[in-house]
Amino acid sequence: MYGSRIAGTGSSVPDRILSNADLERIVSTSDEWIVTRTGISERRIAADGETTSDLAERAGRRALEAAGVDPIDVNLVLVSTVTPDMFFPSTGCLLQDRLGALHAAAFDLSAACSGFVYGLSVADAYLRAGVMRNILVIGAETLSKVVDWKDRTTCVLFADGAGAALMQRTTGESRVLSTHLYADGSRGGQLIIPGGGSRHPISQKVVDENLAKIKMANGNEVFKTAVRAMEEAAVAALKANGVEVSDIDLLVPHQANARIINATAQRLGLPKERIVMNIDRFGNTSAASIPIALDGAVRAGRLKPGDLLLLVAFGGGLTWGSALIRW
Ligand code: COA
Repeated sequence: MYGSRIAGTGSSVPDRILSNADLERIVSTSDEWIVTRTGISERRIAADGETTSDLAERAGRRALEAAGVDPIDVNLVLVSTVTPDMFFPSTGCLLQDRLGALHAAAFDLSAACSGFVYGLSVADAYLRAGVMRNILVIGAETLSKVVDWKDRTTCVLFADGAGAALMQRTTGESRVLSTHLYADGSRGGQLIIPGGGSRHPISQKVVDENLAKIKMANGNEVFKTAVRAMEEAAVAALKANGVEVSDIDLLVPHQANARIINATAQRLGLPKERIVMNIDRFGNTSAASIPIALDGAVRAGRLKPGDLLLLVAFGGGLTWGSALIRW
C-alpha cells in the first residue's frame, strides 16, 4: 500500500524585522498589549519588491535539498497562498519555472491559514493513489502587502514567510496516517479581503475604502472559533487512528496567537514541551506558519523516526483541519 511521507523540509523569511516598538510608531498600540494579547514580539516583513515567489523559491530549494531530490523528479509544485504574486500565472507555475521542475504540474491552493494542511492532504491523496512520486508543497505569504497598516486590530498580527515540504511516495511506516479537512463558508466574512476580485474589481473606490486589505470582523469571535475548530480537528485525527493525546510527541499548530495555541493545548491536555511555538518571532504567516514551525522543529532535532506528529490549522474561509504523521 502506497503512502506519503515528508522527505525534507525548508523555510525562508524576509531579512527585515518589524518589532512591536516599530509598530508603536505606526498605529496606536503598545508592546505590552501585543505581547500579552498575542504572544508576538516581532515579525518578518518583505522588502519592497520581494514577492511571495521569492520566499517560496528559497523554502522550496531548501526542502528539495533536505530530501535529496532533484527538481527534475518533482511531479507537482503546489503552492498554498492567499497572497500570490499575481492572479495568474499561478505562483506554482512561477516556481515550476524558477526551480527547473520541468516535468511538474503546478497550481495554487487557496485555504488561507489552513493552506499547508489542505495542500499536504491533496499531495497525500495523489501519492497514495500511486499517480505521483514527488510533490513539493509550499505555504508562502507576503501578508504585509494586504494588511491595512492603519488597522491596529490586524496589522499587529500578520507577517511574511514561506515553508515547504517535499512529499514522497512511500511503502514504509513513516507516513501520513490521516488528514481531516473542514470548511464553513457561511462564516467566511469573519476574515476577508473583499476587494480586488470579480466582485469589487480594482477601482478608485476599492483603493479609497481599503477594500483590497485584510478585514477581521470580530477578533474575539475568531479567537473562540479557532480554539474549538483546532480541538475538533485534533480529536478527529486521534479518533481515526485510535491514539491518545499522550501518544502525540509533537504538535505543530498554526501560529495565529499564543493564547489560541495554549487554550487548544490545554483543552487537549497536551504539555507545553510537546508544542512548537515560534509566533513570538514570526507572527501569523498564514499558510506558511505550520511549515516554518515544522522546519524549525526538524532542524532543531525535535523529531525522531517513529514519533507521532500532529499538525492542526485554522484560518479564513473559514477552513480548518489536521494531519497525523508517523515521522
Ligand atoms: N493595540 C492596542 N489596543 C488594541 C489593539 C492593538 N493592536 N487592537 C485592539 N485593541 C483594543 C480594542 O480596540 C479594544 O478596545 P476597547 O475595549 O476600548 O474597545 C481592546 O483592545 C480589546 O480588544 P479585543 O478585541 O476584545 O481584544 P482581544 O483580547 O480579543 O484580543 C485579538 C484581540 C485580535 C488579539 C484576539 O481577539 C485574537 O487573536 N483573535 C484571533 C485573531 C486571529 O488570530 N485571526 C487570524 C486567525 S487565522
